[in-house]
Amino acid sequence: MSSVSFHKKRIEECLRKNIQINEREAQIEAEYILRFALKKPSSFFISNQKTNIDKIQEEFISSILKKRIKREPLAYIFNEWDFYGETFYLDKNSLIPRQDTELIIDLVIKQFDKESKLNILDLGTGSGVIGITLSKFYPNSIITISDISSKALNVANKNIKKHNVTNIRSLESDWFDNFKEKELFDLILTNPPYISKNDVHLNNLELGYEPSNALVAANDGFADIFKIIDTAPKFLNSEGLLMIEHGHTQGHKVKNYFQQKSFDNIKQHRDINQKIRVTSASKIKV
Ligand SMILES: C[S@@+](CC[C@H](N)C(=O)[O-])C[C@H]1O[C@@H](n2cnc3c(N)ncnc32)[C@H](O)[C@@H]1O
Repeated sequence: MSSVSFHKKRIEECLRKNIQINEREAQIEAEYILRFALKKPSSFFISNQKTNIDKIQEEFISSILKKRIKREPLAYIFNEWDFYGETFYLDKNSLIPRQDTELIIDLVIKQFDKESKLNILDLGTGSGVIGITLSKFYPNSIITISDISSKALNVANKNIKKHNVTNIRSLESDWFDNFKEKELFDLILTNPPYISKNDVHLNNLELGYEPSNALVAANDGFADIFKIIDTAPKFLNSEGLLMIEHGHTQGHKVKNYFQQKSFDNIKQHRDINQKIRVTSASKIKV
């Protein structure tokens, strides 16, 4: 039997040697792996560096490392990942929620108070993180989550159960195709696929585990964004808001496209690295 600190070092070395991540990344991953394998919160590791890890736990850690060395992301190995401080069920049928996407939640919370009675749509919901997080913040609102992928929706539906939210419904749809014509939302939020098929980031082996239809869009990554901007006005209330996450180099084109359509009050929002990652706009008052 060996101690927590011994295993932490061992995990870090194994990761650095096999998947070429830097020292800081290896430390972070080692902490995640230990927390998950020992089922302990981070606070446990502050005062328990010398605690021994038993044989079963050692074997469990080795099985995690075997998968990680093949570049499988931790989120899929663990079958869970955190978003906005909550843990969501996850498998390879849906995108791993990114911290970047938390910006959308921050923006909504900044604009609408907790008592608001909104009709909210999370379009291309994947694991359901945006819609489910907002369904908790806005108990008086009604949330719809939708996705073209029934497998992704299965993941989202598991998360609806896990988080015990009832003000939410899910709908399988190719963007707006299966929505009723008179169905109007106050707020449509989306993190659509926006990576160009020629983007070198797609060579990243970890990305190969994620569903490609959650990542890649035609027309240099703009096809889905443009389609959503084209169609959303039909499904927004007067002055209803559309908020789109996009790549940090896409802001200019997205803004231009919004300007050509039935939107005004166009705003661009920066992430913690000061990059424009979300563009929002209101449907022109009718
Ligand atoms: C970038 S992922 C975002 C997932 C989730 N909202 C998140 O932020 O983690 C894009 C999602 O859009 C869905 N999608 C792709 N094409 C679609 C379409 N034509 N209609 C509806 N959803 C689509 C994918 O299945 C995927 O779940």
